[in-house]
Amino acid sequence: MKTTPDPDTRLLIFGGSGFVGRALCRQLVAAGFDRIIVPTRRRAHARALNVLPGVTVLEASIQDDAGLRTLVSQADVVLNLIAILQGSETAFEAAHVHWPRRLVQACEAAGGRRLVHVSALGVAEDAPSRYLRSKARGEAVIRASGLDWRLLRPSVIFGAEDRFLNLFAELQQSFPVLPLAGAKAQFQPVWVEDVATALCRLIEAPGAAGQVFEATGPQVLSLRELVQLSGRLLSRERPVVPLPAALAWLQALFMECLPGEPLMSRDNLASMQVPNIAGGRLPGLKALGIQPRSVAGVLDVQPRALRLDDWRRRVRG
Ligand SMILES: NC(=O)c1ccc[n+]([C@@H]2O[C@H](COP(=O)([O-])OP(=O)(O)OC[C@H]3O[C@@H](n4cnc5c(N)ncnc54)[C@H](OP(=O)(O)O)[C@@H]3O)[C@@H](O)[C@H]2O)c1
Repeated sequence: MKTTPDPDTRLLIFGGSGFVGRALCRQLVAAGFDRIIVPTRRRAHARALNVLPGVTVLEASIQDDAGLRTLVSQADVVLNLIAILQGSETAFEAAHVHWPRRLVQACEAAGGRRLVHVSALGVAEDAPSRYLRSKARGEAVIRASGLDWRLLRPSVIFGAEDRFLNLFAELQQSFPVLPLAGAKAQFQPVWVEDVATALCRLIEAPGAAGQVFEATGPQVLSLRELVQLSGRLLSRERPVVPLPAALAWLQALFMECLPGEPLMSRDNLASMQVPNIAGGRLPGLKALGIQPRSVAGVLDVQPRALRLDDWRRRVRG
């Protein structure tokens, strides 16, 4: 499902400053879009977008309903990439349910806008984690709207600026052994550039209205295999010691007590109880004309697709 982009389309991208949002903005600009607005809580978070012609970064609070209605009224297509990975029940509810509801209301008040929303693979109202349950309730709000909505559910996303493979590469640089929680958890990692291309296609694809697409890579890998792959690519593969469930839970609890965002929370562990792989019933990237790339495939031809060069330098140094 390929389309010819209409560069006159006015885009409003919430969460455009994040990992996926930055890749998306780069691809949109390369495709000729030059009317892109990215609201952010802090201008400094969106610094990487400053070099992109046609992208306007605005400091704005998503809590301000009047400001939200004004922003939405200036766009033809709205994209929502805002999400959190860690937080309390209230924080998940605010970011994943209340916020999409207010966004839907603003789009409806503007006379109906196309809404492209990024969800996550594995969302379900009875999923084992707060993250997945709240994302499911957010999806439900969007599906129940009368808007022209399009949903994308990615598996774990990898790329040069990811927090996932880079974290495991970093840990293997620092520790002789890796005690790993959720070692058997299954993922179908998808390249950030493939996710960004999918979003570009969803912006305009005429047949995508009211549809949910799964974004997955071609390979199913366990967390252990992913960690080993990142170590191998770094030439610093460390022995992985899978943690039994009780110890994994204690490790996550301990990490939650440390200052800052935890590397792994109990909620993340709960998310990993369900395989993060394509269900097969929904259309995937191929339906959008994308041949997804594997982790090894991307890193073979483009080592900088992970910050491996930096890690390698540090290992050698
Ligand atoms: N990364 C993955 O592996 C993965 C996998 C599956 C699904 N997804 C989904 O893909 C989407 C994008 O993920 P990402 O990895 O790009 O996330 P990210 O890097 O954490 O970026 C999220 C963006 O949301 C904004 N944001 C976060 N919390 C906010 C809050 N409380 N209020 C307002 N804005 C807030 C931030 O913008 P400012 O700081 O500029 O305000 C940030 O740029 C999300 O829906 C996520 O659930 C990601």
